[in-house]
Amino acid sequence: MPAVKVSEFVYGRLQSPDLDRAETFLTAFGMVRAARTKTALYMRGTDPVHYLHVTELGEPRFLGLGFAVTNPDDLKRVARLPGASGIESIDEPGGGKRVRLTDPDGYGVEIFSGIEAVSALPVVRQALNSGAGRPRNGVLQRPPRGASHVKRIGHGVVMTTDLARKVAWYRDTLGLLASDDVYAGKPDNVIGSFNRLDRGDAYVDHHILFCIQGKKAGLNHLSFEVQDIDDVMIGHDHLKAKGYDHIWGIGRHELGSHIYDYWLDPWDRIHEHFTDTDTLNADAAPGLHEADALNGPWGEPIPPSFVGHASV
Ligand SMILES: [Fe+2]
Repeated sequence: MPAVKVSEFVYGRLQSPDLDRAETFLTAFGMVRAARTKTALYMRGTDPVHYLHVTELGEPRFLGLGFAVTNPDDLKRVARLPGASGIESIDEPGGGKRVRLTDPDGYGVEIFSGIEAVSALPVVRQALNSGAGRPRNGVLQRPPRGASHVKRIGHGVVMTTDLARKVAWYRDTLGLLASDDVYAGKPDNVIGSFNRLDRGDAYVDHHILFCIQGKKAGLNHLSFEVQDIDDVMIGHDHLKAKGYDHIWGIGRHELGSHIYDYWLDPWDRIHEHFTDTDTLNADAAPGLHEADALNGPWGEPIPPSFVGHASV
């Protein structure tokens, strides 16, 4: 039995030496400022979630990931885990209560409840006509140029030197389910593991956490869902025009199947735009695939700089 089953992955927490530069990048990436203090920046998307990206002022570092539980009693269970902080009041926008844990590589895992919701931001998106049907008959589509419109955070990808230990810890602590594992050479040489939320019959993203085996521990990337394929493409042009560094994309993944586009922030932390992910519920059986499945039906092969990337 896992300690709890978290209900959602909600934010990533980074540390950066210049909050102005961080905000300029994240705004160009398609987020909106939720709050800013002298020492931290909180960015949100269009969903009614207080923040999905936290930047604390300091040397560039990956600090950790934040997950929600819906039952406040779950925090009591988490607080009894080895190394847990105890239940704290969150001294950040939206308040709430949380317990801080440390994963096997020393990175933060925050489990919280009760952060105040905010109003959703308006977005105008039209349904896309396709071979499957024409839901937009008679309605003209004229998406404006500019930044993407980040909707929500989708997943985090973390690298570790001990994949089995890391994956077991996250599954046991957060109640995650195995979606797909990836191996190199022999099937018992697992080099990557996709994990999703367990919300029973409800459908969730194919993964909220992908753990990969590597030469060091750290963050490979944080991934944010945007509104649709136009929002990926238009946002790509916008970031390019602003002079930001692109690392991989645009393409479609095989596992999870989402359309992806990967960018570097000013301190080389990878931020992904995605749209059109697969969803699964708790009934789906785990898959096992050769590493070749990390390439998709279209798009460039993974660049080596991406495969080995971990922001500490
Ligand atoms: Fe991703």
